Amino acid sequence: MHTRTLGRDLRVSAIGLGAMGMSQSYGPNPGDRTDMIAVLRGAVDRGVTFFDTAEVYGPYVNEELVGEALAPVREQVVIATKFGFRIENGASVGLNSRPEQIRAVATASLERLGVETIDLFYQHRVDPQVPIEEVAGAVGDLVQEGKVRCFGLSEAGAETIRRAHSVHPVAAVQSEYSLWTRDPEPEVLPTCAALGIGFVPFSPLGKGFLTGAVDASTSFAADDVRTTIPRFTEGNRAANQVLIEHIATLAQAKDATPGQVALAWLLAQHPSIVPIPGTRRITRIEENIGAAQLPLSADDLADLNELAGRVGVEGDRYNEYHMSLVDK
Ligand SMILES: NC(=O)c1ccc[n+]([C@@H]2O[C@H](COP(=O)([O-])OP(=O)(O)OC[C@H]3O[C@@H](n4cnc5c(N)ncnc54)[C@H](OP(=O)(O)O)[C@@H]3O)[C@@H](O)[C@H]2O)c1
Repeated sequence: MHTRTLGRDLRVSAIGLGAMGMSQSYGPNPGDRTDMIAVLRGAVDRGVTFFDTAEVYGPYVNEELVGEALAPVREQVVIATKFGFRIENGASVGLNSRPEQIRAVATASLERLGVETIDLFYQHRVDPQVPIEEVAGAVGDLVQEGKVRCFGLSEAGAETIRRAHSVHPVAAVQSEYSLWTRDPEPEVLPTCAALGIGFVPFSPLGKGFLTGAVDASTSFAADDVRTTIPRFTEGNRAANQVLIEHIATLAQAKDATPGQVALAWLLAQHPSIVPIPGTRRITRIEENIGAAQLPLSADDLADLNELAGRVGVEGDRYNEYHMSLVDK
């Protein structure tokens, strides 16, 4: 697979792999550990060099899984993880990006991942209690000490990105972005492009919806996060089906799958965009990375660009609590 560069010099495969679903969110979970290790290693065999995890996934166990799976190929891969949630009794109960907490999480994440340096350390959500300059300074100190290579932000607004970047260079911003979640387009993407910051779309397949694998008749496990998301109520899944029908028609004409079209559209938005689709199956990794070789014409892109505006998307991408954590 071809590579792309995040920030000044973080070279990664054009499509990465999100590991979150291997430990939580898209039940039934956790996935069998041996199987998940094989999937992570199978991704490397197929050219994926960019892996995404977080302290809070599990919590903790996802970092351990990723660390163990990638230990034999450590030098070939870039591992991103995240700090910033307050975790008590195995559950996230708010935010904490105080400098001493960032340092403590870095130490624990290094241990769980079994690495000398965290390649990319994102703040998972902007903490309104801690000025972003202090966060950038704390991560900058860890960079000086060789514990962290690059600094990232997740779901940060344009002003926060600019302020953070003025203290310590931000290599990548990771936020939800896909054919049905266009929020970063007006401000965040132009800010990243202007400052030379990479952009990593999470949930690039719309949490599965943009692959066509989810419809109104899909039943989710009780621990599946989609049971809490307005966009995934049965009624909204039915209403949003028209979106996937358009994407599927274009995909068919290109001898591709809807998920590949969704990923290729993201890749076409900017050369520093690196989506991280999540899956627990090697066949789906093969399908997803195929998007790196799917050419979309100017007409295809124009058609897709207008799609969400034309057909509309019903329902918020998060519930009220999680929407409240998104930095404006
Ligand atoms: N920064 C943040 O706050 C944040 C938030 C959410 C996610 N993330 C990161 O972003 C990564 C990706 O996001 P995501 O997992 O939420 O959403 P996603 O990648 O949009 O979708 C994942 C879902 O799609 C399914 N899927 C994947 N490839 C498929 C294919 N080719 N055909 C059919 N179904 C397919 C997966 O099921 P199977 O596993 O069964 O294949 C899973 O249910 C996560 O793993 C995580 O690392 C970050």
